[in-house]
Amino acid sequence: KKVVLAYSGGLDTSIILKWLQTEYGCEVVTFTADLGQGEELEPARAKAVTLGIAPENIHIVDVREEFVRDFVFPMFRANALYEGLYLLGTSIARPLISKHLVRIAEETGADAVAHGATGKGNDQVRFELSAYALNPAIKVIAPWREWDLTSRTKLIEFAEANQIPISKDKRGEAPFSVDANLLHTSSEGKALENPGDEAPDYVYQRTVAPEDAPDTAEMLEITFEAGDAVAINGEAMSPATILTRLNEIGGRHGVGRLDLVENRFVGMKSRGIYETPGGTILLEAHRGIEQITLDAGAGHLKDSIMPRYAELIYNGFWYSPEREMLQALIDKSQEHVSGTVRVKLYKGSVRTVARWSDHSLYSEKHVTFEEDAGAYDQKDAAGFIRLNALRLKLIATRNARVAKK
Ligand code: ARG
Ligand code: SIN
Repeated sequence: KKVVLAYSGGLDTSIILKWLQTEYGCEVVTFTADLGQGEELEPARAKAVTLGIAPENIHIVDVREEFVRDFVFPMFRANALYEGLYLLGTSIARPLISKHLVRIAEETGADAVAHGATGKGNDQVRFELSAYALNPAIKVIAPWREWDLTSRTKLIEFAEANQIPISKDKRGEAPFSVDANLLHTSSEGKALENPGDEAPDYVYQRTVAPEDAPDTAEMLEITFEAGDAVAINGEAMSPATILTRLNEIGGRHGVGRLDLVENRFVGMKSRGIYETPGGTILLEAHRGIEQITLDAGAGHLKDSIMPRYAELIYNGFWYSPEREMLQALIDKSQEHVSGTVRVKLYKGSVRTVARWSDHSLYSEKHVTFEEDAGAYDQKDAAGFIRLNALRLKLIATRNARVAKK
């Protein structure tokens, strides 16, 4: 039996690696993705070698461009937010990881994939729905749902018994659970588990506190083409470079912090701290360019399906016909979403302050409070209002009649 493991190089997935070898009797192939989590990946390779993985069975792939181009940007065309606030930074990375797990399984003749998500969360659902959608014959091993290493103490004992190196800070209880990539850092658990307690400062990793951000605002111009950001301050950049740059700038200004209690797909509520500096800027700027380039009917329709689209991604249905159908609608809406937005960053906030586009629908001639040279006849509005009021008047008349009886 052969299994491809999503391997971070951290303590938990190292334990899983060993457990798959010793308890499952599997040959293990590792997949480590550079998603822009800001960690060196060569230590993961060295550690996998130490744990007995043959070099040809260690797969380390830089997926940053693929992640932003094929997953983050399509999602941002929709302005997707789960439960009004969460920019889906973890949710959108899982289908990409599963895609590579399945690909490597097929290439190496493995019949299974394995992940380190617990049996309580969303991530197991996302990894597995994605894997089954891409390969219906694949088997999935989720050690957290199977093993008897049910406490931190047992995990450490297992690690020690198997010569898995444990860093000093991991000896005690893990402080909290972190998932990071180019889009966000998410922190859950431990000190954060009581939603009545404010999150301690040390939880934040990629943004300064808004109070400590510079006292001078920073202006930024973001150019879009067909709904995707293509340049910052006039300089064309690749998708991953744009997000990397926006993360640096946004992080410096304390942009994109979120403290959220959300509804997990498996039924429970959980509290998380999110930092999405670049994504928060991108969302604001994208809304800014849509303001002048999207027709009202198109804009309101895509806004109305957004919560549904976001929920599909949150719940792990990236590879589903309904997500693809909504994506087709959203992508169609973006044909003219091209132009440039100027945003202002200041102490945790990002605001659109100017926008312009060759595709603009904005007509100063029509909207002006000054002389409009016959562009618009104000008298037309009288009949427009009269007909729209007709049924409201009929209702009011009926209600008055019924109330009298
Ligand atoms: N609650 C977020 C989601 O479901 C993040 C989950 C993973 N984060 C973590 N810190 N383990 O998308
Ligand atoms: C986990 O349970 O592995 C992380 C949290 C989640 O998946 O929601």
